[in-house]
Amino acid sequence: MLTVAVLISGTGSNLRALLEAARHPDFPARIVAVGADRDAEGLAHAADFSIPSFTVPYRSFESRDAWGEALGDRLDEHRPDLVVLSGLMRLLPASLVARYAPRIINTHPAYLPEFPGAHGVRDALAAGVAQTGASVIVVDDGVDSGPILAQERIPVQQGDTEETLHERIKPVERRLLIDVVRRIATGDLALTH
Ligand code: GRF
Repeated sequence: MLTVAVLISGTGSNLRALLEAARHPDFPARIVAVGADRDAEGLAHAADFSIPSFTVPYRSFESRDAWGEALGDRLDEHRPDLVVLSGLMRLLPASLVARYAPRIINTHPAYLPEFPGAHGVRDALAAGVAQTGASVIVVDDGVDSGPILAQERIPVQQGDTEETLHERIKPVERRLLIDVVRRIATGDLALTH
């Protein structure tokens, strides 16, 4: 059984989808911990599912590296086989990536390598593209630059706002993420740097 830790910063709707998927006895992975870099709304999902959670507030640390070390120590307490970033709005320091790579994956609301970074949805809208997408990638030292594990195109509709487009992207992200975690757990998908 693959053990998974999920890191969030926001509402955690993708986390919730994973928690619900992992509730099924035939799902080959289980969520063992949820962490956040702030007092994230999504931590409530961990409580709903009685999953241990922790907060390592970014603002309490002198540097990204110091924060990363503290975050890595909390993750180590749960010894996860896989770390999933799902809405974590912080770049992990290279020192933390090195501790877990390539067993860290991330969901991104764009068709990478298009529109990397913290505002993928906003950037796609601003670019006026007819379609964007959702991607699941391996986390490396760059910004959304790791190997792509799964992705799918999503049309941009007339009148879309950042919110309406993002809410249409998230269900696709959730489906891709659950499928990628399942494939990693069954060995169908090997993680490489
Ligand atoms: C997701 O689209 C994720 O890819 C992006 O932020 C969003 C988080 O949504 N980094 P939620 O917190 O899972 O609802």
